[in-house]
Amino acid sequence: MRVIILGSAAGGGVPQWNCGCPNCAAARTDGRGRTQSSVVVSADGERWILLNASPDLRTQLAAHRVLWPSPGTRGTPLGAVILTDGEIDHTLGLLLLREGAAKLPVYAPAGVAALLGDQWPLYRVLSAYSGVEARPLEEGRPIALTDRAGVAFGIACSATVVARRPPRYAAAAPAAAWDVGLRLTDQRTGGTLAYVPTAGAIDDAVRRVAGDADLLLFDGTFWSDDELRAAGGVDAPTAREMGHLPVGGPGGSLELLPQLRVKRTVLVHINNTNPMLCRSSSERAQVEAAGIVVGEDAMEFEL
Ligand code: MLT
Ligand code: MN
Ligand code: ZN
Repeated sequence: MRVIILGSAAGGGVPQWNCGCPNCAAARTDGRGRTQSSVVVSADGERWILLNASPDLRTQLAAHRVLWPSPGTRGTPLGAVILTDGEIDHTLGLLLLREGAAKLPVYAPAGVAALLGDQWPLYRVLSAYSGVEARPLEEGRPIALTDRAGVAFGIACSATVVARRPPRYAAAAPAAAWDVGLRLTDQRTGGTLAYVPTAGAIDDAVRRVAGDADLLLFDGTFWSDDELRAAGGVDAPTAREMGHLPVGGPGGSLELLPQLRVKRTVLVHINNTNPMLCRSSSERAQVEAAGIVVGEDAMEFEL
């Protein structure tokens, strides 16, 4: 299975339009910005599955030759989408696929699919364009992913609920499966990707998703709990209130991730305020000393 990180940043990207923090200021001048959270995977190198559809999807698709249409044709190597949550930074990109010729299969947890038909009505809006074929992503049960024609991708997917926090635009919504982690297995090679871009804890659910994986892409949103407030957001929520376990500090993911039996761990969905983004920071040195990698746009893996 081939895995490409299309975007390694959290919502807002780096630089974020209204942020003058040191990371955003540096990215404006050194050209090393980051696009928003998204990944693609493929077992055959021809048909690709998009994991989350970011607001930067258009430039992300243009940046990777394997995602281009065949010359002289209209079409796309994208065969399906899986959504791990209903957040704006993971779903808005669906609007950018509206020029498609046929309904796009979109796998999502039931609670997320309900939001996308109602409070954040992407499915309803898109139905006037090429539309989506909403497919359920049931918890716990591995499913063989298939393209629009029903042809198997050669990848099995099992989804596990990792947090129960509705998106901010639906704060009053009743409890449901809002955030899942994915365990994707190449059915031929056995190569396994664990994809957990949002995790409020490293608990049994995360252990179930990540155990013995060849690669874990894990929530690297914030270094510390009060990071947004320190960056000038006076009323900003804490990392934990947003459902993101901080990377640093006591009880942070850096302490706990090495206990998971995973061959390689890469942090993704990194907020622009996170000090580990700075290559010369002590935070970056701590991550590297733990044998963990700070994800970058366009990183590729073969599992
Ligand atoms: C999150 O990952 O917590 C959300 O995307 C934050 C947001 O942009 O509302
Ligand atoms: Mn996000
Ligand atoms: Zn910033």
